[in-house]
Amino acid sequence: MQNRNLEEQFTLFSIDTEFETPAEKTASDGVEWVSFRDLVPEIDDTGYLTHAIYAYPAKFIPQIVRYAINTYTKERDWIIDPFAGSGTVGVEAYLCKRNAVLLDLNLLLNHIMPLKVYRGKGRLHEADLHKLLEGMRASKHRFIPDWSNVDYWYAPEMLEVLSYYWGFIHQADDDVFSSIIKAALLKASKRFSNTEDRTPKLARSKRKLSAIAELLKENWRAQLDEMVDTLSLKTLRSLNDFVVYTQAHHNDRTPEIQWQGGVDSSYITVPRECDALITSPPYLQAQEYIRSTKMELFWLGHTEEEIRELSRLEIPYRKTDRIVQTQTLANVREMLTRDDLRKRLDSYFCHTVNALENAMKQLKPNAAACIFVGNPRIDGITVELWRILAEYFTERGWTFEKVYEDRIKTRKLFGARKNKNPDGMKSEFLLILRQP
Ligand SMILES: C[S@@+](CC[C@H](N)C(=O)[O-])C[C@H]1O[C@@H](n2cnc3c(N)ncnc32)[C@H](O)[C@@H]1O
Repeated sequence: MQNRNLEEQFTLFSIDTEFETPAEKTASDGVEWVSFRDLVPEIDDTGYLTHAIYAYPAKFIPQIVRYAINTYTKERDWIIDPFAGSGTVGVEAYLCKRNAVLLDLNLLLNHIMPLKVYRGKGRLHEADLHKLLEGMRASKHRFIPDWSNVDYWYAPEMLEVLSYYWGFIHQADDDVFSSIIKAALLKASKRFSNTEDRTPKLARSKRKLSAIAELLKENWRAQLDEMVDTLSLKTLRSLNDFVVYTQAHHNDRTPEIQWQGGVDSSYITVPRECDALITSPPYLQAQEYIRSTKMELFWLGHTEEEIRELSRLEIPYRKTDRIVQTQTLANVREMLTRDDLRKRLDSYFCHTVNALENAMKQLKPNAAACIFVGNPRIDGITVELWRILAEYFTERGWTFEKVYEDRIKTRKLFGARKNKNPDGMKSEFLLILRQP
């Protein structure tokens, strides 16, 4: 196919994440430029309400999710996200009075969601949080993660203090206050470790080792406590804002958000019929979500064996069980000279398509599938993911509706790190397919 047909069919919008002046956004060469600010003026901060409580690699931008929700769903609809990550779709669905099913291989989802879609009614009091934080500092319980080389990642003094703090949290009641402190401890446990905390992957660097050595000469314990206090307080305040917002908007009915972390979306039975799919599949390369979050998973109490098993299922680092065929994909395959990259490509498409197909077969007639992808380069070759997915699904009866282009100038990939052209990408695309 169909490349030409598709080309003729599709409407291409460009959406700029770093806003240009309206004059720069004028349409040219048939490309219509639209900025997120214009599309979703109600969101002026990507970390608003509960979005920033947890760091996660390659998070969805809430504006694009909100846009897809507003455009392709209606109130009370059920949305499915088979690659839910840190649950951006869940938060936006909740705020917009939609229900959602969130699935992800990463177990972090199960820890993240209770806070991100906090369902409490009353105001949380700072005094109660401070009391629990004091208890944590006087902890008599230790928790050492089930991680064979934990010593490699921590100075012994820091590991000792953190293990008491985590010991306290693991034996505390599983309530909102302990969850707030848990989220703060996750960030602090990374900051006070030997790994770079500005990049997602675990990596010891000279810079970080000397920063830790410097800290050890200073009042590092007071700094650690201050960090945990500040982050906890910030989370508590965002939860209070979240409650105020949702109580003002939800009237009589609270949306339902269901999540399952630790599941393989390629093969899981999707629990219910849905009205739309909104998702962003994993990157083709340069991103290992389980490995990037394994320090967090260990502290949360997951075992080495559990984490190894999940890594084995991660896209695209797993065995291929069928070869996805489309014209554009065939062209890329032909150009690739390296066998290992061809294998990676085949695995990526096999399992990404399996997972999408698995979720899409649970969509009702006329439902939209909104798939947000980049155009990564592999061995110097650009892989047009949206086009390959469009080709694959239109051959199976889906209708190609539209693709929006989001030109990336800088994008926040993780924490404070801004990356020009992550993964070699210049644009990202929101592909819209329609169930006939
Ligand atoms: C681009 S991220 C999604 C980020 C998410 N949109 C957010 O806003 O946080 C892709 C996700 O795919 C997940 N993933 C990778 N392999 C998977 C599999 N076999 N089944 C389910 N999820 C998988 C990763 O754990 C990662 O969270």
